[in-house]
Amino acid sequence: MNKDHKVLYSGMQATGNLTLGNYLGALKNWVSLADEYECYYGVMDLHSLTVRQDPAEFRKRARALLTLYIAAGIDPEKNCLYLQSSVPAHAELAWILDCFTYMGELSRMTQFKDKSAKHADNVNAGLFTYPVLMAADILLYQTDVVPVGQDQLQHLEITRDIAQRFNSIYGDVFTIPEPYIGKVGAKIMSLQDPSKKMSKSDENPNASIYLMDDPDTIRRKCKRAITDSEATIAYRDEQPGLKNLFDIYCTCTGKTSEEAVAEFQGQGYGQLKEAVGEAVVSILKPMQDRMAEIAADKSYLDKVIKENAERAYYSANKTLRKVKKKIGLTEMPR
Ligand code: TRP
Repeated sequence: MNKDHKVLYSGMQATGNLTLGNYLGALKNWVSLADEYECYYGVMDLHSLTVRQDPAEFRKRARALLTLYIAAGIDPEKNCLYLQSSVPAHAELAWILDCFTYMGELSRMTQFKDKSAKHADNVNAGLFTYPVLMAADILLYQTDVVPVGQDQLQHLEITRDIAQRFNSIYGDVFTIPEPYIGKVGAKIMSLQDPSKKMSKSDENPNASIYLMDDPDTIRRKCKRAITDSEATIAYRDEQPGLKNLFDIYCTCTGKTSEEAVAEFQGQGYGQLKEAVGEAVVSILKPMQDRMAEIAADKSYLDKVIKENAERAYYSANKTLRKVKKKIGLTEMPR
């Protein structure tokens, strides 16, 4: 990791089946950031506890997500890839920051409102303070930039507010993080309703391509994608289903939309869908194979998990010690 570079922090939750949207929209872009930034990528397992998890399944998923990071090409020597729960400083700082966050601010979070409506039977306090744990994740590493999707911008905003509030009392303790503005990932929409984002929690399994789908399933889902009845090959907002297919095709192949439109001119939607299926398979299949390879080497993965957690631990605790000292908590006597 390059310690002279600015710090970049991001992470994903180990719940639900990650989709092609998560890969093309986020993971794929994380790969190349290591040359420019000191990058930390967490597997956000503490955040996942706001929803009840099956212990054995959960443990497996967390490990699988870290494996996926590596299989996607994020080098665990050049980046810090770790499980959030391996670094206790996250939970510790979250508690401290809870005391610098107002109920009113948290009640205004749109994700809290959405999620508490969706899980009305389990509106736990963790769901409410979720953004504070996320603030702790980001602030512990003196993060400069955070690549996040539109849906997480409000969480980044509250992180900045909490950090500024803390700094205004205790001096410059935290770096104030900015949203990462750079090459942003493609926004992939549902294959069944192109007005909605492709989501891991969609009830219709044909709406999303999961990263673990086998080639035939991928081809079948692409074939069934909703398009339109215009029967013209074009890349425009008026044909959102087709536009989404082109976005997927272009992100997988590296072609521009102009090139892709020219390539399929005069052909039917069926041919385009077939080509999209093949393009997706050619990206996902090798990644799945790499995942299986990495997962089979238990001692390698254990070593990566341990070494990366140690590095994260070290950086996080530098900040945590400073915070505790500033607010007047007693230091452990030597
Ligand atoms: N809340 C994020 C999501 O659901 C995951 C997350 C947790 C995160 N902590 C973070 C993302 C810190 C970026 C930075 O997508």
